[in-house]
This record gives sequence, C-alpha cells and structure tokens, in this order.
Amino acid sequence: MIVVEGLHKHFGGARAVDGASLAIRQGSITGLIGPNGAGKTTLFNVIAGEHAPTSGRVLLGGDDITGLAPHELFERGLLRTFQIAHEFGSMSVRENLMMVPGGQSGERLLGALFSRRRIAREERDLRVRADEVLAFLTIDHLADERAGNLSGGQKKLLELGRTMMVDARIVFLDEVGAGVNRTLLNTIGDAILRLNRERGYTFVVIEHDMDFIARLCDPVICMAEGRVLAEGTLDEIKANEQVIEAYLGTGLKNRPRAASAVPPYGDVAASAAVTGDPVVRGPIMLSGARVRAAPDAGTGLADA
Ligand SMILES: Nc1ncnc2c1ncn2[C@@H]1O[C@H](COP(=O)(O)OP(=O)(O)O)[C@@H](O)[C@H]1O
Ligand SMILES: [Mg+2]
Repeated sequence: MIVVEGLHKHFGGARAVDGASLAIRQGSITGLIGPNGAGKTTLFNVIAGEHAPTSGRVLLGGDDITGLAPHELFERGLLRTFQIAHEFGSMSVRENLMMVPGGQSGERLLGALFSRRRIAREERDLRVRADEVLAFLTIDHLADERAGNLSGGQKKLLELGRTMMVDARIVFLDEVGAGVNRTLLNTIGDAILRLNRERGYTFVVIEHDMDFIARLCDPVICMAEGRVLAEGTLDEIKANEQVIEAYLGTGLKNRPRAASAVPPYGDVAASAAVTGDPVVRGPIMLSGARVRAAPDAGTGLADA
C-alpha cells in the first residue's frame, strides 16, 4: 500500500534517512524499530509530509505522494497522530474529538448563513460519533474531562481516538508507549488490534517496548543509520546479525553474552530486548523513558 523507494533526508551533513526502501502492506500492523537516531521519526515525518525528502519517492496505492502536504495526505486517509496541542488542553476530551473532521458546514460562511439546522444536526452527529469512539477506547468516563488533565497514556488513547473521527486508512504512531504505564499500554494495544481487525486499519508503529511489538506487529522492520537493515517477524529480526550489531555497535561473533558488550546508545536494556539476553531482560527493559534518557538529538515532532 505504501512503498518507500530510496528515500534520503539530509539535514546539512546529517543523513537522518540515508537511502531507506520499504513497503507497508495494507492491513498490516508494521513495527518500526531501531536504535535512537536510526531515522525512524524522520522517515515518518517525510512519509507524512512534514518534511520534503532530499531525494527518493513515496507511493501510496501506486500514486506518487512524495512531498504532498499533510492535509493532502489526510484526505487520502493517511494520518500521523500528533500530541494534543497545548491550546486544546483546556477543551474537554469530547470536544477534542469533535474538532477533528474538517469541512463542517459551521465553518463555512455559506453554511452559517443558510442552514443553522444543518449545523446543529452535524454537531449532534459529531457528538454521537465522538462518544462512540470514547466507548470503543474504554475512556467514555473521561468525555467531559479537560484534555490537559489526562495522563500520558490517556492522551495517547485520545490521539488514537482522533484518527477514528476520520476514515483513516493508515495510521502512524511514534513511541506510543513512552511514559505510559503497562495497563494503559495494554489498553492501547487492544485498541490498535481491534481497529486493525474490525475496521481494517493499517498501522505503522515505532516503539521501543519489545513486548508491545511482539504482541502487535508483523512484520517488523529494523532501521539503523538511516537505512532498513532487516524485515521479518520479530523473532527473525532478533536473530539477525546486522540488527544485533546495530543495537550493540559491536559484533557479537566473539562475544558469548550480549550484555558484555557496551552499546553506543547507552542503553543496555534495548540491546537486551533485541538479543533476548535473559540476564538483563527483565522489568527494566525498554520503557520509552529509559530509552529516551539516552543522549539523543532527535527532534521528531512526536518526541518534542
Ligand atoms: N530537524 C533535524 N535537524 C537536524 N538533524 C535532525 C533533525 N531531525 C533529526 N535529525 C537527526 O537525524 C537522525 C535521526 O533522527 P530521528 O529520525 O529522530 O531518529 P529516531 O526516531 O530513529 O530516534 C539523528 O541523528 C538526529 O539527530
Ligand atoms: Mg524517534
């Protein structure tokens, strides 16, 4: 459904994306993993029209969509979730959802002049739809809560809810689990699975939590240094020599234990998750906060 061909995005001398090629299958939940600085967020930003690529192409259903603006991609059902903007924090959760669909009559002058009734009806429909979305996500009890008061995980659910207010075909989620507790992360995972199975959503998910990836994603694509290293099931990825080296920054060939190597990204937990090393694999692994605590100059929007 989405094909990325030889994509480059350079920032001055920094090659954030350096010749990435990949395909996202319709109806899949594709995982995108890789060490910090691998170029995952930049790849999202280019696909989603936030950045023009330096070179390369992005195709959606065979159409060249390279460099289209986010609103044009939105019209084609391609959606990237955004953090709830500051100014919407004082609005209720329900209002945040009702804001999403574009083109309501009430926003157009002619509509305002000629059909108050139609506007009232649309608002009512929107409200019904918003409440359905909240029920689906099991946060209907939060409908009247100020969005700014939500926990990190609840905000992620609301972001997912915003994609449900439009007929999204493909949704990009960047580090949905960062700073989210396990229970809410499971709820988010449930919602993603149900949206995929019951409504045919395609997802591309960047996440450091390998349990989350294991539960949801097939295939998994691993990036490092701006390129795609490997694609396959998570087990295949974990066994891939290049992937292990990318996470560790040093070959494993002569090393009996992954934990003995020092990863360049300052994150033993991330390495352990990929290698499956039982010594360091434990409750410490891969919380987004831990991974993000590593030095990372990444300035992806969703990380901001
Ligand atoms: N706006 C930007 N300006 C300059 N360098 C950037 C910018 N965005 C990302 N980079 C650099 O590109 C590389 C990839 O970053 P990013 O896409 O955020 O990686 P990831 O999401 O995999 O951690 C990093 O080295 C980062 O510093
Ligand atoms: Mg990122």
